[in-house]
Amino acid sequence: MASVTSLTDSVQQHLASALSATRPEAAGADPLLRRSDRADFQANGILALAKKAKANPRELAGEVVARITTGDLIKDVEVSGPGFLNITIADAAITGNLAARYADDTGRLGVPQAANPGTTVIDYAQPNVAKEMHVGHLRSAVIGDSVVQLLEFTGENVVRRHHIGDWGTQFGMLIQYLDEHPHELDHKAGEVTGEEAMSNLDRLYKAARKLFDSDEEFKTRARRRVVDLQAGDPATLAMWQKFVDESKIYFFSVFEKLDMEIRDADIVGESGYNDMLAETCRLLEESGVAVRSEGALCVFFEDVKGPDGKPVPLIVQKSDGGYGYAATDLSAIRDRVFNLKANTLLYVVDARQALHFKMVFETARRAGWLNDDVHAVQLAFGTVLGKDGKPFKTRAGETVRLVDLLDEAIDRASAVVREKAQDLSEEEIAERGAQVGIGAVKYADLSTSANRDYKFDLDQMVSLNGDTSVYLQYAYARIRSILRKAPEGVRPVAHPELELAEAERALGLHLDGFAETVAEAAREFAPHKLAAYLYQLASLYTSFYDKCPVLKADSPVQVENRLFLCDVTAATLHRGMALLGIRTPERL
Ligand code: ARG
Repeated sequence: MASVTSLTDSVQQHLASALSATRPEAAGADPLLRRSDRADFQANGILALAKKAKANPRELAGEVVARITTGDLIKDVEVSGPGFLNITIADAAITGNLAARYADDTGRLGVPQAANPGTTVIDYAQPNVAKEMHVGHLRSAVIGDSVVQLLEFTGENVVRRHHIGDWGTQFGMLIQYLDEHPHELDHKAGEVTGEEAMSNLDRLYKAARKLFDSDEEFKTRARRRVVDLQAGDPATLAMWQKFVDESKIYFFSVFEKLDMEIRDADIVGESGYNDMLAETCRLLEESGVAVRSEGALCVFFEDVKGPDGKPVPLIVQKSDGGYGYAATDLSAIRDRVFNLKANTLLYVVDARQALHFKMVFETARRAGWLNDDVHAVQLAFGTVLGKDGKPFKTRAGETVRLVDLLDEAIDRASAVVREKAQDLSEEEIAERGAQVGIGAVKYADLSTSANRDYKFDLDQMVSLNGDTSVYLQYAYARIRSILRKAPEGVRPVAHPELELAEAERALGLHLDGFAETVAEAAREFAPHKLAAYLYQLASLYTSFYDKCPVLKADSPVQVENRLFLCDVTAATLHRGMALLGIRTPERL
């Protein structure tokens, strides 16, 4: 019995039975329970009910109150305003509930798991082969990773797919160049670093491009290579594989820096659907979902028109027979729905691709691959902006390399850690610096809702004041230090019989709400809701700590109970930050 019923759910149940005992027609009505400043909870649902029953809301509220038994859970309930219920929870219930969460030895803090989980295929962290990763790839990776953690925590079956850009015409040029300049990528696995791998690819790319633009005969040979590649010519494929492998060395080095687990088996790029493309086109054409137009296979939409008012189709197959991004995505949908048996397809992709996904999803719906039971969602994210509010670029106007950005964040964070450090070794400073720096970058991304643009401002990100990961990491480290300072034999123990101070109640009620926040953040694919919860948790802890001495509390039992509150707070911060992909060092 690891799962704990939250106070909100318990109160909700109490209210629901009181409501249906008052009026039979009130059975199943939502009491609209909310946390409130006036009491612990406020229920506003009686207003709507009174309207329906043509009753006086205050009178009806009075009748409901008469049927609520106060005691172990609800200490006090009163009617306020036009017919609201103000509910105060018994101190013992708050402490008791937290004690049950604390006792959950699975480390889940009593958070329940779905009884009948579905399967979600999540498409995230999808960089492109032979290209640098940029801030857009950062967002997809960071948001996607957190959504994976959240969904898995709620019990959902999650299949990860990294739809990397590993197919397309540019490979003809690269492969042809490598064929004419062999040994350029000859080295054993493990021999080059991620940085070296990327600079090899960059060098090859530039050289191939130069030749392609200046030498007509090379251009012809390169174009022939694309045909060989799509036809599956073994020698061509072997060279293509070299580019993919070299790129993976680079990707993995970046993901490692990001402190993120990406598994090779989950990397199924555009090329992975090559064998399905012709069939996808056939199915779409036979069902009439797609039609031939000027030689190309197209899908048209009522509401998608160009500036000239002419419909802009989704092109599934080009007139030269080539397949593009849309054909690959449509094939991936078939794979995810029919082979992976997904109920939900989630795409963590830049909002600038919204039209593409709108058309792809609608096409799949018309084809019957998506329906009411199997649906697709783009978790569209906004643009990363520079301090000037324009899309983030280097001074020279180039896109910023993700690695440079992460290194800078780690440098800044290390400086902050060093300044505060009292008893940390150089090695520890480097380790904490990385955890704080990467945490800062992730938190800045996750703490605003994904669809909004945000400014990449390292000064703000590593600031100790305000809504930053460093603030949360410090709160955690401070709690751990208090727990370490407890004298020999003094341990965190819950004492439900103790009366709680105002700051303790506020902290306790918020801690109990962790499960609901996680459920909501997972349901809505909204890590920012969890971030906001954790920030408030750290703030409530700070007020508690200011007002309620822990180790110097009035009595030994109060010391134990406050240490207990500290420990539940630490465990919740730790768990919550982990769901955002952020570490919580024991010392800072
Ligand atoms: N590789 C693409 C890019 O860098 C993102 C891929 C998104 N996923 C998809 N299934 N289309 O923009």
